[in-house]
Amino acid sequence: MTLQMQKSPFTYRVRGGQVINTDVIRFYRSVPSYQVTPLYRLTNLAHQYGVGEISVKDEGQRFGLEAFKGTGGLYAMAQYIASKAGLDPQNLTYDQLQTPAVRKLADQITFYTVTDGNHGRGIAWAAKQLGTHAVVNMPRGSQQVRAQHIRDLGAPCQITDLNYDQVVKFTSDQADRDPHGILIQDMAWDDYRTIPTDIADGYSIMADEFLHQLDQVPTHIFLQAGVGQFSAGMINALIDALPQDQLPTITIVEPAAVACYYLSAEQADGRPHTVPGSPQTIMAGLNCQTPSAISWPVIRDTARFYGTLTDDVSAKGMRQLANPAGNDHAIVAGESGAAAFAFVNEVLSNPDYRDLRNTLGLDEDSQIIVINTEGATDPVNYQRIINANK
Ligand SMILES: Cc1ncc(COP(=O)(O)O)c(C=O)c1O
Repeated sequence: MTLQMQKSPFTYRVRGGQVINTDVIRFYRSVPSYQVTPLYRLTNLAHQYGVGEISVKDEGQRFGLEAFKGTGGLYAMAQYIASKAGLDPQNLTYDQLQTPAVRKLADQITFYTVTDGNHGRGIAWAAKQLGTHAVVNMPRGSQQVRAQHIRDLGAPCQITDLNYDQVVKFTSDQADRDPHGILIQDMAWDDYRTIPTDIADGYSIMADEFLHQLDQVPTHIFLQAGVGQFSAGMINALIDALPQDQLPTITIVEPAAVACYYLSAEQADGRPHTVPGSPQTIMAGLNCQTPSAISWPVIRDTARFYGTLTDDVSAKGMRQLANPAGNDHAIVAGESGAAAFAFVNEVLSNPDYRDLRNTLGLDEDSQIIVINTEGATDPVNYQRIINANK
């Protein structure tokens, strides 16, 4: 089986009252390098598959970083510096962070982080924008090319011989020993929530953009999850922006080898569960064994379906995006970036998954949106996959 899917066993419950979204929008509109990323309509493909529309938001073009992660990193870093400088975090604009006094303060701070690539690159870039410092550590097995991207932005970056949990502990200790150090992680746990919440809020700028770019409110959104902060950021923003009866059907998509949300739904006890062992997948950004503490409740209460895909399906999705139908726009999507598209692409193209298509309610009225969360962040692997026959 290359795809699996289950219905959510949890009660659907939308908690309103989010107000952060407008702060994020105001902040990003004040950032000089901020540009809305493109949204491509794959109209020919949608026609071929018998659905209304398939839209792909291309985060491979975000801030020249080839991934969406900078939207969270810059916002969270800005919030932290603002709080230290006594600025109102809810009305923050970029120029307030560029005054000599605030830049002097920022220059004393060092942000420590762990990454398998995209998050660290976003943090290194954000530090450069705000005149502060970043130190980036990577778990063993991380790609040299990804480390080099981070160093190229001026942040020291080492690939350690530690696993993810160990390297987070190591980095957190490093931050604690530095009197001006702070851990900036894209994952929350029991007593570490403030910065990851700001990161997920920062991601919500993408949803604000695509809701303005789309002609119609989407009926279906497929979101690829690692620890789930990206998905929770999108969901919170949709809840903010849309009346409850217009919220799209949400499907969470994960690699078959490391599907912590799928597992948690299967266990159905309302708590998050961890995938054991050392799973392997080409979808490096989604290789996460434990749901983020702040994302789990958001996803549990709003996702209707949980799906998994194998690496070959992700690769097939990447090739489909690179070689589009008719005059649809070609999209460069990396292994994790293509995952949500790849899932729905397989559901719609493979007759074996007719039942999944029906369960999801995908028909000629469906307006589907997915987000390509990364471009060719590992160019050698990207070319190898794109040039493979099948
Ligand atoms: C390209 C890409 N897509 C999606 C994700 C998933 O984000 P999250 O871990 O917040 O679920 C990541 C995480 O690193 C990523 O790098």
